[in-house]
Amino acid sequence: MHSEKGQLSIEVCFSPLSWPLFRSENALVVIIDIFRASTAICAAFHNGVDTIIPVAEVSESEAWKQKGYIVAGERDGQKLACADFGNSPFNFLDPGLRGKTIVMNTTNGTQAIKMVSANTREVVIGSFLNISAICRYALSLGRPILLFCAGWKNRFSLEDTLFAGAMVEKILYEARGRYYANCDSAIASADLWLLAKGNPLQYIEKAAHRHRLKTMGLDDILEYSLTQDITEAVPVLIDGMIRDLRRLPTPAGL
Ligand code: MLT
Repeated sequence: MHSEKGQLSIEVCFSPLSWPLFRSENALVVIIDIFRASTAICAAFHNGVDTIIPVAEVSESEAWKQKGYIVAGERDGQKLACADFGNSPFNFLDPGLRGKTIVMNTTNGTQAIKMVSANTREVVIGSFLNISAICRYALSLGRPILLFCAGWKNRFSLEDTLFAGAMVEKILYEARGRYYANCDSAIASADLWLLAKGNPLQYIEKAAHRHRLKTMGLDDILEYSLTQDITEAVPVLIDGMIRDLRRLPTPAGL
């Protein structure tokens, strides 16, 4: 794995605090928040939602709600008072949401999206639900890949790192030498994935956010969130809004 034969790098950022250390201008950035924001976004597009508008401040969610928009959001796992629903991926599978726009606000995931959007051209949202579709899209673009783990309040998160490791493994395998990983966080992620991939559901018992969700009775999403390739959706950030690449007028790469 530690090879510089390939020309393109794949790197992993473990925390928003480390983000300024990475050069993202020319990279494809994959935002990861497995429990639950990035999984919920992929579930939404799998269901046929048209657009997700990510916001960071609660006051923004309130303003969009007053304008009549559907608002989803949580803080520390709990639904925002102004929101129609919280951040469970299952909420986003409601058939009534097909073709709709949803404003979304989460503790870490949408904050990470807002943070990277300022200086990055290519931002997509990744989860186990769309891992193969995201890898295919990344390989078709041929840019350096930067996997951004949203974590929990700037802390390292096991579930995000597992996904990063699964993606590093897949990209290095499928790129057949075009990509290299010489960043220790990418290598550590892949090593962690090797440890967990036989039974990710069992491994994730160690994760702090898994227990936070359990305490709140919100942990019914674990198995779903760790299931690979439920959807071909590729959620991509365009002008501050998330759309499914498959539904854009000129889909590229897929
Ligand atoms: C987040 O963005 O912080 C998470 O998705 C929190 C959650 O929904 O549990």
